[in-house]
Amino acid sequence: MVSLNLNEISIEEVSKNFFTGMQKEWFLITAGTINRYNMMTAAWGGAGILWEQPVMYIFVRPSRYTYEFLNQNELFSLNFFPEEKRKILKLCGSKSGRNINKMEIDGLSPVSIKLLDEAIYFKEADLVFICEKIFYQDLNSTQIPNSVKNEFYSSEDYHRMYVGKILKCYRRNES
Ligand SMILES: Cc1cc2nc3c(=O)[nH]c(=O)nc-3n(C[C@H](O)[C@H](O)[C@H](O)COP(=O)(O)O)c2cc1C
Repeated sequence: MVSLNLNEISIEEVSKNFFTGMQKEWFLITAGTINRYNMMTAAWGGAGILWEQPVMYIFVRPSRYTYEFLNQNELFSLNFFPEEKRKILKLCGSKSGRNINKMEIDGLSPVSIKLLDEAIYFKEADLVFICEKIFYQDLNSTQIPNSVKNEFYSSEDYHRMYVGKILKCYRRNES
């Protein structure tokens, strides 16, 4: 079922600047099924090409509840929101789904889509990518500069990188 407010677009039509769109505006990573999903705010990642396919990639620490969902499911979604949803992004970036039920957050309506597997995205997003996990790898601490380790990895919670092949892209109709 596709949300009424979002239109499917091709990758070529995506005009978002991911440098600001990720680091400054943030996004939600979602994985799971309509009966059991979780999401977290993220700011690190990117869009690119791997093995001749358009992909999105993200970095998630093993301590996140969302990490379990990413490992258990074949699909994940990236959801970018308008500024008025900032409060929700702050909530999903500061509280864990282990402690609150993120499926009950007001102001987010989940949409289920079945492709190779089920994916969940949000009706209120203005840009959505449904991705198939095609690769993951844990960041190897021996290859990280000491200055970065000191700044980001004092608890040795090294991110896992997930690369997702983009299966679908939805954008809010601007009219
Ligand atoms: C702006 C912002 C960006 C974040 N980016 C990431 C990220 O890229 N990767 C990550 O592992 N955690 C990131 N986090 C932290 C998670 O969103 C946070 O730990 C969240 O509570 C995890 O929720 P969960 O345990 O329900 O998965 C970010 C938090 C904020 C506020």
